[in-house]
Amino acid sequence: MSTKRWLLSALLLALTALPAAAQDGKGDVIYVPTPQVAVNEMLRMAKISASDYLIDLGSGDGRIVITAVTQFGARGLGVDLDTYLLKQARDTAKRLGVADRAQFIEQNLFETDLSGATVISTYLLPEMNEKLRPKLLQLRPGTRIVAHDYSMGEWFPDEQQTLLVPEKTVGDSGKSYVFYWMVPAKIAGRWESLVFAGGRGVIFEFDFDQSFQKVSGDLKADGKPARLPLFNVRGDQVSFEVEVPQGSGVVKHRFQGTVRQDTIEGTVTIAGAPKPLPWTARLKERGQMRISALDVSGDGR
Ligand SMILES: C[S@@+](CC[C@H](N)C(=O)[O-])C[C@H]1O[C@@H](n2cnc3c(N)ncnc32)[C@H](O)[C@@H]1O
Repeated sequence: MSTKRWLLSALLLALTALPAAAQDGKGDVIYVPTPQVAVNEMLRMAKISASDYLIDLGSGDGRIVITAVTQFGARGLGVDLDTYLLKQARDTAKRLGVADRAQFIEQNLFETDLSGATVISTYLLPEMNEKLRPKLLQLRPGTRIVAHDYSMGEWFPDEQQTLLVPEKTVGDSGKSYVFYWMVPAKIAGRWESLVFAGGRGVIFEFDFDQSFQKVSGDLKADGKPARLPLFNVRGDQVSFEVEVPQGSGVVKHRFQGTVRQDTIEGTVTIAGAPKPLPWTARLKERGQMRISALDVSGDGR
């Protein structure tokens, strides 16, 4: 559905729902609540728990934050520009006895400091999600993001669900779309590692080509070139198998590790070796993450 039609349907709903959804009319999108069934699914996808701090960007009546706090023991912050909705959210938090862990502030969501969040939720227009995207990609790898109805353009979700919501009249009526992403570590660029296998050192050089969470690229193992398969970076975790030419055939090595700033620490299981060996890759030259699809066949989603 077009943005214009979405806005019109949303406006009609908000107007007919007065005074429960009365609002100041500030902000870049009007208030439409996420159906509770979709809130529950967003939080399930995010695997929210008591150790999480959720920020809902444009929090409306506060339902996402309040559900995260009351049902999962998380802490949460809602930001909105609408003072009527902020009061409604604060009153609900107070009534449920969770005002210390469910807070609501008047703030432009584009100016909110997101650095403390482990989970971010949105129900905003697609262009707002895309405007937020560069800031979300700068967050700590592993930060989870959930969105209702609208996605993030070329940043494909890690998971998505379509829910049947018969009472929903806004957007695609009768349906809610729920999207989930995990902020990927940035590994684009050239990395080098030395692995001791079979009594000698073998140099593995990687040239990672990254588009959001998807990675492909080239490898040199002991000077022999090979192509890296398409794989996903999951937060700060990488795991991939490479096929390296040997004699008239190929052998497979499996790498897995944790990405830190300029190193990847993990293990490599070399073909034929009895157990995994330590693997540390060091960054030689940082590359740029692409904002377009990778030039590979296959689907690593
Ligand atoms: C579609 S509603 C979603 C409400 C809630 N997150 C939910 O899912 O039920 C969008 C909310 O964003 C708020 N909003 C719009 N633009 C904003 C901005 N620039 N800064 C903060 N809040 C904004 C609106 O007031 C509204 O409450």
